[in-house]
This record gives sequence, C-alpha cells and structure tokens, in this order.
Amino acid sequence: MKVLVLNGPNLGRLDLRSSAIYGDLDFKGLALFIENAAKALELEVDLRQSDSETELISWLHEAADAKVPVIFNPAAFTHYSYAIRDAVEMLKTPVIEVHLSNPLSREEFRHTSVISGVVNGTIGGFGPDSYRLALIAMKGLI
Ligand code: DQA
Repeated sequence: MKVLVLNGPNLGRLDLRSSAIYGDLDFKGLALFIENAAKALELEVDLRQSDSETELISWLHEAADAKVPVIFNPAAFTHYSYAIRDAVEMLKTPVIEVHLSNPLSREEFRHTSVISGVVNGTIGGFGPDSYRLALIAMKGLI
C-alpha cells in the first residue's frame, strides 16, 4: 500500500534551520529515515516536499482522486492556510498531520493548527520519529 508523505515550506532546507528545534538531519537524511521506517513496516512511500501552497494543493487533489492515504507536515501552512485545510478535507482516505517539533511548546502563533480539525490525528515533538509513529498509526488505519 502506497502512502503519500507531503512536506511543506522550508522543510527542504532543514540544514539551515535550528538544529535545537528540528534536529541534526538535513532533508535528505530525513527522507532516508522515513523511507527506511516505511520499508520496515512494509509500506511504500511517495515522499515529496514543496515550498508552494499551489503545488501542495495539487498533490492533495491528486491523492483525493487516486484515494491515497497521506502523512502531511504542512510546516508554517499549518497555522493559517484555509486553502490547504479545504484540500485536506476532500480526502476520503486517512490523513495524519506530523511535526518534527512540538508546535504547542513554541511561539503562540504555532499553537493554532487550521489542519488538525480535518485529519485523523496529529503527531508532533518527536523529531524524525514523528513520521515513523505516523507510519505505524497509518498502517493501523489502512
Ligand atoms: C513544523 C512546525 C511549524 O510550526 C513550522 O512552521 C515548520 C515545521 C515542524 O515540523 O515542527 O516549518 O511543521
């Protein structure tokens, strides 16, 4: 079973972001971690990253059409993109929101997720393990 793993803006440049918050892996390292975790669970992942709201929405439309389950780190779009929320709401397959950091322990603007209300569940604060835990949860859902 294929799972689409979507990553939003600035996650492609983890090498330039705070390692105290996001850990030591660059995006390539994170992608490898996710692919290995998926393999161990006998899941196939299609892993993508984009800084563009338009591109993320078109990938969500594609997943809705193809009925593919989604693990999604919307990054900063989490906090304000109603367009992404509406696209996630179209999915009939399970969707899990993930975050490397724990947004609730950070600045106040990160305490709001406009996405959480339209997903099956949210996992955050465990670094790359947030994705592995999401894959385990997804395996139970599909
Ligand atoms: C993030 C948390 C968001 O608040 C932030 O804008 C990100 C990454 C995370 O994975 O911890 O870019 O989604």
